[in-house]
Amino acid sequence: MKTFWNRAVAAACLIAGATGASAQAAYPSKPMTWIVPFAAGGPTDALARDIAEKVQRQLGQTIVIENQGGAGGTIGASKAARAAPDGYTFLVGHMGYMAAAPSLYKKLTYDPVKDFDAVFRFPDTPMVLMVPKSSPHQTAADLLDFARNNPGKLNFSNAGVGSTSHLVAALFASRAGVEITSVAYKGAAPALNDLMAGVVDGMFDQTNTALPQLTPTGRLTAVGLTSAEPMPQFPGVPPLGAKVVPGFEAATWYGLYAPKNTPKQAVQKVHEAYVKALTDKAWTAKMTDQGIRLLPAAQQTPAALAQHTASEVDKWRRVAAEAKIQID
Ligand code: MLT
Repeated sequence: MKTFWNRAVAAACLIAGATGASAQAAYPSKPMTWIVPFAAGGPTDALARDIAEKVQRQLGQTIVIENQGGAGGTIGASKAARAAPDGYTFLVGHMGYMAAAPSLYKKLTYDPVKDFDAVFRFPDTPMVLMVPKSSPHQTAADLLDFARNNPGKLNFSNAGVGSTSHLVAALFASRAGVEITSVAYKGAAPALNDLMAGVVDGMFDQTNTALPQLTPTGRLTAVGLTSAEPMPQFPGVPPLGAKVVPGFEAATWYGLYAPKNTPKQAVQKVHEAYVKALTDKAWTAKMTDQGIRLLPAAQQTPAALAQHTASEVDKWRRVAAEAKIQID
C-alpha cells in the first residue's frame, strides 16, 4: 500500500513539475506592455519601439508600447510601479525619473530601486544642443554671451521637469554660470516642434531624434555635443566640454524595468531575448549611425542595471544639489 502511495505521489509531482515547466516555457503567452512615460515620437519612444520590435521577434509575442507622458516621466513610472508583477508590464526607464526624480520631487509615489526589478540596460545616447536656423545665436558661445548679458531671457524647451533635456540644460547652465528659463512639455517631440517653430531659443535632445532634424534643408542647427569626443555623425559640431564649458559631459542612460517581484524567469527571458537581438549586426550598426552608444554585455545584465540605478540615485542627490536643480 505504502509503495502504491509513494508511486502516486511521485507521479503527481512529476505531472505538477511538467505543468510548471510548460507554463514557464510558454512565457510570454500573451502580448506584453512597455510603458514609455513620454509622448510618442521622442527619443525614448523611438529607441523603445526599435528595441521592442527586435525583442518581440525573439519572444514570439507582441510588445505594445503605451505612451503615458507627463511630469518628466514620473506619471508613467508610478503607474508601472503599481502594475501587476506578472511579467506582462514593463517600464522603459531613464536617468531622469529612475535616478534624479527622488532628489527633485518631494512627493514621488515610487522608489526607483525598491519598487522595480531591473531587466536590462539599453544603449546610452549623448545629446545635442540645437537652436533654430533663424536664431541670431549660431554657436554655443553666442548663446552663453546672450544669457550672460540678458539674465533669464534665454528659453530652452525640454521634455518635462526632471527629463534629461531639462537636467542636462540645467547642469550646462550651472557649469557655465548662466541662467536659462526652462519651458516644459510632455515629451521631447512637442518640445522639439516649438524649437523648430522658433518659440524657444534652444534645446538639448538625444542624438537619435536630433539627427533627422539636422539636414541641410532642416530648420535647426546643432551648436554642441554633450559627448567628450566629436561624433562622426555630427561633422563640425564641437563637444561643449572642449572649450565652451570645459569638462562638461553628459549622456542619457535607459533601462527596462518590471514591477518588483516579477517572476525571475520572466526577467531572465526578456533579458536573453535582448541579448539575442543584439547579435543582429545590421541593427546595431543602424543604432551606431544614429549616435547611440552600445554597451559591453556585462553592463546590460539585470544585476548591472540594478546596481547602476542605485548608484545613479546617489549621484543625482549630489548633482541636483550642486546644480541647484529644483522643481519650478
Ligand atoms: C528626455 O528629455 O528626458 C526624453 O528624451 C524625453 C522623451 O523621450 O520624449
